[in-house]
Amino acid sequence: MAKLILVANWKNHPASQEEALTLIKELNRKKELYKKVNLFIAPPDPYLDFVASKVPYAKLSTQDFSHAKGTNTGEVSAEIYKSLGARLSIIGHSERRALGETDEIVSEKVRAAIKSGLIALLCVGEAERDAEGEHFEFLRRQIKASLSGLSAKAATSVILAYEPVWAIGKSAKDAINPRDLHESIIFIRKVLTEIFGRSVAEKIFVLYGGSVEPTNAGVLAKESSVDGFLVGHASLKPKQFEQIALSMTQK
Ligand code: PGA
Repeated sequence: MAKLILVANWKNHPASQEEALTLIKELNRKKELYKKVNLFIAPPDPYLDFVASKVPYAKLSTQDFSHAKGTNTGEVSAEIYKSLGARLSIIGHSERRALGETDEIVSEKVRAAIKSGLIALLCVGEAERDAEGEHFEFLRRQIKASLSGLSAKAATSVILAYEPVWAIGKSAKDAINPRDLHESIIFIRKVLTEIFGRSVAEKIFVLYGGSVEPTNAGVLAKESSVDGFLVGHASLKPKQFEQIALSMTQK
């Protein structure tokens, strides 16, 4: 079976290059383990080059990019990231959506990323889960709007990260349970099939993110059809990240 995908979303951490180096040294001690998963690291921009040179077994990811046309001070385009070796870009993370990124902007970024040769890691997820299942309708709308205008061919360069907003940045006990995750993934695949047809939908990997920690990674990997994880806070803690990677190799 294909390796599971593990994406480390460092967000705006570590606070200095020195601390980033300490984290990298810890990761490198376990490089044989990390080679058994499909590892991507999404560091803060200024560390991109540094991570590329010191963690050669990981692929580079950006946390976002600017799709603005023309001349824009302070903006970095997908092409620039691609030229620096990025393979993937996180797009539409809930923390960016909270800053005003709309589904329309997200869909433009998905298309721009793919056009530049990056894999688009599209984040979707409901703010609340309710017993009546209304969050499924929210998810359907959000996925369709975020992928609008994308051809079926381009869709094979999308990875979807299901990140329920209520589960992000908490702890394993607040995260989704395997049964609910499995149900959400089946639903997401159904929506992808509605948009692109079954053969394309089957090729799109679906990851989960939201308080993945050593205590829930193994059970989520084993008891759902998830293709990997997008990990925030635990990716900054080498021991925890290592245990997550280990449980993914034991699926
Ligand atoms: P978390 O973050 O693992 O800290 O919940 C995940 C994310 O925001 O991508």
